Amino acid sequence: MPNEPVILRGVADLRGQVAAWRKAGETVALVPTMGALHEGHLSLMRLAKRQAGRVIASIFVNPAQFGPGEDYERYPRTEAEDVAKLATARVDAAFVPTVREMYPEGFSTRVHIERLGDVLCGAHRPGHFDGMALVVVKLLTSALPDVAIFGEKDYQQLQIIRRFTADLNIPVRIMGGPIEREADGLALSSRNRYLNPEQRRAAVALPTALKAVRDAVKAGRDPSEASAKARADIVEAGFDSVDYVEVRDPSSLELVTEPGKPARVFGAARLGTTRLIDNWAIQN
Ligand code: PAJ
Repeated sequence: MPNEPVILRGVADLRGQVAAWRKAGETVALVPTMGALHEGHLSLMRLAKRQAGRVIASIFVNPAQFGPGEDYERYPRTEAEDVAKLATARVDAAFVPTVREMYPEGFSTRVHIERLGDVLCGAHRPGHFDGMALVVVKLLTSALPDVAIFGEKDYQQLQIIRRFTADLNIPVRIMGGPIEREADGLALSSRNRYLNPEQRRAAVALPTALKAVRDAVKAGRDPSEASAKARADIVEAGFDSVDYVEVRDPSSLELVTEPGKPARVFGAARLGTTRLIDNWAIQN
């Protein structure tokens, strides 16, 4: 049995653990999560282990990044299973704070990201990225790791984190990890467990349609026409609605209107009450 990670519940415990490792000359990587861990998360833990001597995973379902009517209450909370999985990935510590620890009485601060936060998911989930940024700023400045790792599954989130880390002079290297997928191409997600068997079968239409956009744009076709076809195909395959399919610049996230430019295709669509997102690189 691999060693279980040390469980840290308070910001002070987190700081104390990092200070002890630093004193011993060790480097530290942080991998923030909301738990309900799957192979996508664990791939980031393994990447972290190759970047630093010590790895801390955080598990915190952050109320600030859920809107009214979203899935904050029903979001899966599986701490015991998560800790066992972290042990298999040789994670050294898990930071698992309460809501009260992160947002004590009197908490009054907000973080707002302009432009990068306004498009794609930002346009469909008002306040989501500000709430995400708030908790990530707190996690980064509490732990002050050498490196923090985030998945390209949430590519817009990764770009926003890069932006505010630079803007706020947070001395942490931000690193992205590739998207882990099921055999049929569906990106792993904690939210996939909401899908019934029929929805699960339909879900593959999202990555398939985005891949078709990638191939069409690579072949020189118009990004907006390819995106429109993908939106129709996703609904045809059984999704209830499409929030967006768009081709955008990988750094600025501005809309790309011609083939041959740096580009990435992004999509978000709903199956019943479950919202799935995905993206593929087209050209860097
Ligand atoms: P969560 O959805 O739990 O994801 C935690 C990290 O795992 C994120 O960086 C996400 O991009 C990555 N991830 C999820 N699925 C992945 C997959 N299939 N392949 C590779 N990486 C994957 O994202 C969040 O939590 C939160 O917004 C958080 C950053 C923790 C702030 O609350």
